[in-house]
Amino acid sequence: MDNFIPVNEPIFIGNEKKYLNECIDTGWISSAGRFITDFEELMSKRCERNYGVAVSSGTAALEIAVKCLGIKEGDEVIMPALTIISCSNSVIKAGGTPVLVDCDERTFNMTLETIKEKVTDKTKAIMIVHIYGLPVDMDPILEFAKERGIKIIEDAAEMHGQTYKGSPCGTFGDVSIFSFYANKHVSTGEGGMLLTNDKEIAEKAQSLRDHCFMKGRRFLHDDIGGNFRMTNLQAAVGLAQLECLDTYIEKKREMGRLYSSILSDSDKFDIPIVETEYAKNVYWVYAITLKNEFYKSSDDIVSKLRDSAIGTRPFFWPLHKQPIYQEMGLFKNESYPVSEKLSQLGFYLPSGLALTPEQIERSANSLIEAVKS
Ligand SMILES: Cc1ncc(COP(=O)(O)O)c(C=O)c1O
Repeated sequence: MDNFIPVNEPIFIGNEKKYLNECIDTGWISSAGRFITDFEELMSKRCERNYGVAVSSGTAALEIAVKCLGIKEGDEVIMPALTIISCSNSVIKAGGTPVLVDCDERTFNMTLETIKEKVTDKTKAIMIVHIYGLPVDMDPILEFAKERGIKIIEDAAEMHGQTYKGSPCGTFGDVSIFSFYANKHVSTGEGGMLLTNDKEIAEKAQSLRDHCFMKGRRFLHDDIGGNFRMTNLQAAVGLAQLECLDTYIEKKREMGRLYSSILSDSDKFDIPIVETEYAKNVYWVYAITLKNEFYKSSDDIVSKLRDSAIGTRPFFWPLHKQPIYQEMGLFKNESYPVSEKLSQLGFYLPSGLALTPEQIERSANSLIEAVKS
């Protein structure tokens, strides 16, 4: 369909081509080169951290973060049920146990209340995941964790440029991580980064991303790492994108405002909340939740939107409902009603930075039409 509006299309309005040409002209195309360190430095500066370690994906960043904190068999890590499977897989791969909590219906985020119910003396870490555009209410969780010596992994994959009470997301974890997948505000196509203030964690992460080579003699290894390296080519694009982040955030908020101005009157669905007392929405995605008085699932509406050439994505499928985990006997008889409801009724409209006001109007008006019948 010629007029199809994809759910995400990135933009390249900065130094991407110039930096990529520099990689090609100088021959620095693999995982060494100035753009890796420049990207790590600018990202850590923006997030007010001492160290940034660029890796091949947000998923790799989570796996390395879990290893850096020494999570092992018998350790429990609390995380939301409504998140990407990378979160739980990272803990399972390290031999630990993911422990799930439900989320708030309007912010889609985990809260301290649900975390408190799941803490045991095996809780080693809380994986705080900011979902879709608003950050988790951090202060109560950070205070609770600090009192108990529980570590924080902050998954800020979707939160580039977002702040919590004025401090940048990515600043809060013992380790924080980002993804630079193509639908993120700052993209390297595929990529990720760990951020920390702890020198030892940073050095461990650098080692793990590159096979844990020992210093001094090549091809001796002191731990099981992997190839999780980011290339200079990817970092060149990432740096150029990061230089434009403030413009991107402004644009995302403008897009959110335009969507909301068209969609705010419907009684058939909820639109994203504009702000909480601690943050303004960055609308990483423009999330719609159909009301359960009218709908059992989003399938029909999503299919009508597809017929109108509008791309959408469903919300995450809750971790306790994942086929692989059911096969493994994990999370048996557990129920997280809010996450379950959101996964049935939630989806997002086209949200990429390349979206034009006309495309937003067409997407929003198509949704209004779709819920009429
Ligand atoms: C919250 C969250 N964490 C982790 C990831 C994984 O990042 P990646 O796709 O770069 O592996 C994503 C991906 O979108 C995400 O949304």
